Order: sequence, then structure tokens, then C-alpha cells
Amino acid sequence: MTEKRLEDLFLDTLKDIYYAERKILKALPKMAKGAQSPELKAAFEKHREETEGQIDRLQQVFEILGKRPQAKTCPAIEGILEEGEEILEEYQGTPALDAGLVSSAQAVEHYEMARYGTLKRWAETLGMKDAATLLGATLDEETKTDKALSVLAVASANQKAKAA
Ligand SMILES: [Fe+2]
Ligand SMILES: [Fe+2]
Repeated sequence: MTEKRLEDLFLDTLKDIYYAERKILKALPKMAKGAQSPELKAAFEKHREETEGQIDRLQQVFEILGKRPQAKTCPAIEGILEEGEEILEEYQGTPALDAGLVSSAQAVEHYEMARYGTLKRWAETLGMKDAATLLGATLDEETKTDKALSVLAVASANQKAKAA
């Protein structure tokens, strides 16, 4: 048995989030299309653009490692996105749709925050400063997106879902 080390974990996890980001890139336009409020639509569209940049950063990290970008199926993100699709279908045309979409999107962001937090720390431990900076930049974007979604939930989506 080969001895697996932190470098192996780092590369495997990088492949996991690379897979996840590409799935998220495809899911965000559906969420933007489904969202009722213009603010939530705009938030999803903005994050779709950011996600393109995040995929680019991941490709840069692969390059730093001297590896070709490779995706590894991530069942976690598939499950989270599947639940989002369920919300889209089951709550279509109802006042609770946006609150449900925000909750789905935040589940995605939290998964990403967990992954990028870990990857950034591992990059630091492995002495990969540039990779840590790239991963940290994405972690900040995911964190900001999560906060923006919380604001939308409190400001409108939840109230609309409750009052109607
Ligand atoms: Fe992302
Ligand atoms: Fe994200």
C-alpha cells in the first residue's frame, strides 16, 4: 500500500471542489431563472460570474502543482444541488420559493467554505504560499456570497414566505 500524505489529500480535495464548482456553474443560471425577486436573480448571476473566476483559480492551483486540472465526482455537491432542484420544482410559483432558493444556495456556499477553508490551510502547511492566496481569495468570495444571501433572506425572502 502506498503511503498517502497531505499532498495526496490536497490533490484529491482539489479535484473534488473542481468538480463541484463546475456543477455549481451549471446550476446557478437555473437558480437565477427560477428566483422571483430581481435582487435574488442578480445575486445568483453575480455569483455565476465569480464562479468562472474561481474555476480559473483552481486551474492555477493545479498548474502550481504541475498537474493537469482533473475533476473527481463529488456526491456531496450532487446531493445539495439535487435538493435545490427539488425546491425549484416543488415551490414553483409559491411565495416560499425565494426563501427556499436562498436556503439551497447557502447550503452550497457552506460546503464550498468548508472545502476552501481546509484547502487553504493545507496549502499553508505544505508551504504553497501562492496556492494559499488563490484559495483564500475564493474563500472570501464564498463567505461574502453567504452573507449577502443571509441579508436577502432576512430583508425579504423569509418575510414574503411567511406573510403571504
Ligand atoms: Fe464557488
Ligand atoms: Fe459559491
